[in-house]
Amino acid sequence: MLIPAEVATRHVAHREGYARAAQPRPMGMGLSLSGRRKDGSQLPVEISLSPINTAEARLIFCAVRDATERRATERQIRRLNEGLERQNTELQAVNNELEAFSYSVSHDLRAPLRAIDGFSKILQSSLEGSLSERDSDYFNRIRKAAQNMSKLIDDLLTLARVTRADVKLASLNLSRLATAVADRLLENQPERNVTLQIAPDIKVLADPALLQVAMENLLGNAFKFTSTKEKALIEVGCMSKDGETVVFVRDNGVGFDMNYADKLFTPFQRLHSASEFPGTGIGLASIKRVMSKLGGRIWAESSVGEGATFYLQFARIGAEQ
Ligand SMILES: Nc1ncnc2c1ncn2[C@@H]1O[C@H](COP(=O)(O)OP(=O)(O)O)[C@@H](O)[C@H]1O
Ligand SMILES: [Mg+2]
Repeated sequence: MLIPAEVATRHVAHREGYARAAQPRPMGMGLSLSGRRKDGSQLPVEISLSPINTAEARLIFCAVRDATERRATERQIRRLNEGLERQNTELQAVNNELEAFSYSVSHDLRAPLRAIDGFSKILQSSLEGSLSERDSDYFNRIRKAAQNMSKLIDDLLTLARVTRADVKLASLNLSRLATAVADRLLENQPERNVTLQIAPDIKVLADPALLQVAMENLLGNAFKFTSTKEKALIEVGCMSKDGETVVFVRDNGVGFDMNYADKLFTPFQRLHSASEFPGTGIGLASIKRVMSKLGGRIWAESSVGEGATFYLQFARIGAEQ
């Protein structure tokens, strides 16, 4: 007998039940069936049933397969999956902890910096008149360094914030946002000759706060890297690519060497010297995170001296449902 003793009695009723509405199907779907060997030991089996109607009677064809290996493989896959899930949760927790740590460190560094900058300023002005040119230069350097570090902290905090942000996607007017950002940049550099061409009514699927980070950094870069040009031209436009919206921000600035194009999006990577173009090298890394959170991507095209174009591909509007 192939049937284990503990199910043998029930099996009779099952067999009759099957015979009443016989059709080809596996036996005991969703159950782990066992068979019995001649020596009484049991083994996992899979059984498929098919009725065969002959002139004399209805026969039931029954194929029994040894499922030992298959069950073992399934168990192994389950174990591996559980292990992966556990690792994933642990990684997520460590990641969250690191983000929280860098966030609070950055945050707590701000206060002492403000003190360094503020007291240098007070000292400088109360000593005014009695300071040598060299000493005055030292004061300026202390303050400049404190301000650079403050900018670095702000950028790091933005990067951490972007990483932790909850994304709420909505159809947004990128043209309006870009215009507001560019107007503010123009206000801060009234001496510059910058022509802005922003295509109207560009709509993208994005999160307002994240899109703001992207546009501030991209336009900030466009302003910065055209600062050596007599006449700067900055364009924001849009094109459709395979049904997806691709926004570009183009400038006629110093450009960069395309061989290093991938590096730009890594934190702290800069292709221009801080003395010529100040910065922290965190902006594009933040935009890259923004775009990946929005389900899009960013890439760039440029050649040295020929300006640069940054492309942002957004998810299809309607994809939020
Ligand atoms: N519009 C641009 N034109 C030329 N080079 C650019 C432009 N935008 C970014 N880059 C290059 O990419 C680097 C990284 O940019 P970013 O992460 O914004 O850092 P930052 O602006 O602080 O230098 C810049 O230092 C510069 O070398
Ligand atoms: Mg930048």
